[in-house]
Amino acid sequence: MLADIVDYLICPVCGGGLGLGDRALRCSLGHAFDIARQGYVSLLTGSQAPGTADSTAMVAAREAFLEAGHFTPLAEAVAGACRTGATVVADAGAGTGHYLARVLDRLPEATGIALDVSKHAIRRAARAHPRLGAVVADVWKPLPIKDDSVDVLINVFAPRNGAEFARVLKKDGTLIVVTPTSRHLRPLVERLGLLSVDQSKERRVAESLSDHFLETGRSTQEFTMALGHEAIEAVVGMGPSAWHIEPEVMRRKIIELPEKNDVIASFRMSIFQPIP
Ligand SMILES: C[S@@+](CC[C@H](N)C(=O)[O-])C[C@H]1O[C@@H](n2cnc3c(N)ncnc32)[C@H](O)[C@@H]1O
Ligand SMILES: [Zn+2]
Repeated sequence: MLADIVDYLICPVCGGGLGLGDRALRCSLGHAFDIARQGYVSLLTGSQAPGTADSTAMVAAREAFLEAGHFTPLAEAVAGACRTGATVVADAGAGTGHYLARVLDRLPEATGIALDVSKHAIRRAARAHPRLGAVVADVWKPLPIKDDSVDVLINVFAPRNGAEFARVLKKDGTLIVVTPTSRHLRPLVERLGLLSVDQSKERRVAESLSDHFLETGRSTQEFTMALGHEAIEAVVGMGPSAWHIEPEVMRRKIIELPEKNDVIASFRMSIFQPIP
C-alpha cells in the first residue's frame, strides 16, 4: 500500500517530501497527485510518457505467463540474492510486481516500491503484495524517491538509469540486474522469427552502469521450460517482439509448432554495489 512507502517518496515537481492525504499524495508546496481507485499513484510529470510503456495486452500476457510459474526459478534466484535485513526494496520497471512480490515474501520486514511507466502494469503491481506500494514513474527521468533510502533495487528486463539508481540506493545498497542472454527462448527465436538478444547486450549493460557501480557478482540462470501453444503465445506477447509482429500472424506460426516444446530460459543476473 502507498502508506507503506510514502515516507520514501518525493514530489516530482519540487523534490519535497510527500504526505498521504485522503485521495492524494501532497507535498508542502501543495503539489498533489491523485491516488487511483486501484491504489496506485502516478508521479509522472509533463504530459508525455515514453513510448516504451507496456500495453494492456502485453501486461495480460506477462501476468498469465508469470503466474503459470514458468520463470519461478528466476524469481527465486532474484529473491535469494536480496540481503536479509533489507527494509526497503524497489523495483525499477516492475511490470506486474511479480519479482518484487517474491522478494517481499522472503523478507518479512521489508516494504516494496514498484515503479513502472505503464499504468496497465502498475495497476496490477498495486495488488501484487500487501507490503508493496505502486507508482507510475519514468526510469529515464529523476526517480520520485529520496536519496539514500533503498537497500535493494531490482531491475529485471527493464530500462536502467545508473545515476538515479546510485542516488536512491543507500551507500551499502545493492543493485540486482537481470537481462536475457543470447540463448534465451531458443529455439523459439529461430522458429518464430522473434527479436534476438544481441551478444553485446551484457557489455552495454555494464557500461551504462560503470560510472556509478562496481559489478561484484554475476551468475547465469538457465533452465528448460515445456511450453504449449498458449504459453508460447503469452511469452511472445509479453516480450519485445510484441512491438513488431501482428498477433494474428504470430498465432498462425505458433499453431504449426508441436503441442509441447522444450524452450530455454536463460538469464544473466548481475549484482552491483554503488561506487563510494
Ligand atoms: C520486459 S518488461 C519487464 C517487467 C518486469 N520487470 C518483469 O520482468 O516481469 C519491461 C517493463 O519496463 C517498463 N518500462 C519501459 N520503459 C520504461 C521507463 N522509461 N520507465 C519505467 N518503466 C519502463 C514497461 O512498461 C514494462 O513493464
Ligand atoms: Zn512539490
